[in-house]
Amino acid sequence: MAGPMNPLPTSADDPRLRGWYHTIELAPGITTSDAVYDLRPIASRSGLPESLVGKTVLDVGTADGFWAFEMERRGADRVVAFDIARMGESNVLPRYRATLPDWWATSENYCAERFWTAHAMRQSRVEYRTGSVYDLSPETIGTFDLVYCGSLLVHLFNPLEALIAIRSVTRAMAVIEACSTDPAYNPVDEAFPDQPLMKFGSLDGDGGEPGRQCMYWYFTEKALYDMLVYAGFGAVEPRGQYRITGPGGGNCPVVSAVAHVGQGACPSAEGPVSTTGYVRLKAELEDARAEIAALKTRLHPFEGLGARSVGTARRLQRISGRFPRIASAVRKVAGRKSAGD
Ligand SMILES: C[S@@+](CC[C@H](N)C(=O)[O-])C[C@H]1O[C@@H](n2cnc3c(N)ncnc32)[C@H](O)[C@@H]1O
Repeated sequence: MAGPMNPLPTSADDPRLRGWYHTIELAPGITTSDAVYDLRPIASRSGLPESLVGKTVLDVGTADGFWAFEMERRGADRVVAFDIARMGESNVLPRYRATLPDWWATSENYCAERFWTAHAMRQSRVEYRTGSVYDLSPETIGTFDLVYCGSLLVHLFNPLEALIAIRSVTRAMAVIEACSTDPAYNPVDEAFPDQPLMKFGSLDGDGGEPGRQCMYWYFTEKALYDMLVYAGFGAVEPRGQYRITGPGGGNCPVVSAVAHVGQGACPSAEGPVSTTGYVRLKAELEDARAEIAALKTRLHPFEGLGARSVGTARRLQRISGRFPRIASAVRKVAGRKSAGD
């Protein structure tokens, strides 16, 4: 089993501090230097509670361990960091697996040494467990007050199955952050704000090697929220879209949500999106849209004829006045800005 670097780095210019996945402060004055992602600036953006005192927490797909150490820093009683033991457990397409040497499948997760180095240098009490997210269950790992899962779903053949497994080990809440469609290049959320759409892969960006990077699924906000409901969470608190970046070149739009077990208390001022409330408002919105479309069709031949269209025009005006209110209510529960923003 992997252990920490030996000897441990003792100075800020140790070359072994380069090339990490996460920017992590390993000891006072010693921080990994050109990591792919520096998540410190967005550490509270995903909905992780400021205090985790008294809580047991699980970090799924921990990599170098940034989130596990962050949850320890926030006072959690017990933190378990979880990742695959061997590279062969990752969802690599068969065509690429076939090109890799035999030893690759059984080789140890290359993040583990970095995790254990950070663990030793931070004098951490975080526990490390290995396995695949698909195999998480109360029997295999127990249950946790809070489960965190960041930037993993994009790499999985089956994100819904993973969320179902995560739900099975969540006692109160899960914070899920997933890669999202890029508002700059592919503004799906803007065009279809109420649709649970997902973008698949990126053939044109794969340079002739479809799926080589193991990047499969990009979520719209609604897709993540709805999938969490499918996975068995009772209430979903949207956290919206933002971007994660880092000095090593990481730059990824993400969407996150806090998913609650049952309809339990929700810490946000807006309150949870209750599935039934959302569905009701959305149905009202669809009705209003259909009514407007029908009235517009009826109004069309009368346009410019004045008095004959007045009755229909008044009805259209009345319904149109109602439409923004319903639309804004739907946006509000979905955590979006109100209409007109
Ligand atoms: C993109 S990194 C995300 C790291 C971290 N969670 C974050 O938010 O920055 C994905 C991590 O998930 C792990 N992983 C990949 N497939 C997995 C699986 N089937 N089960 C558990 N972890 C997996 C990888 O080894 C890697 O550490």
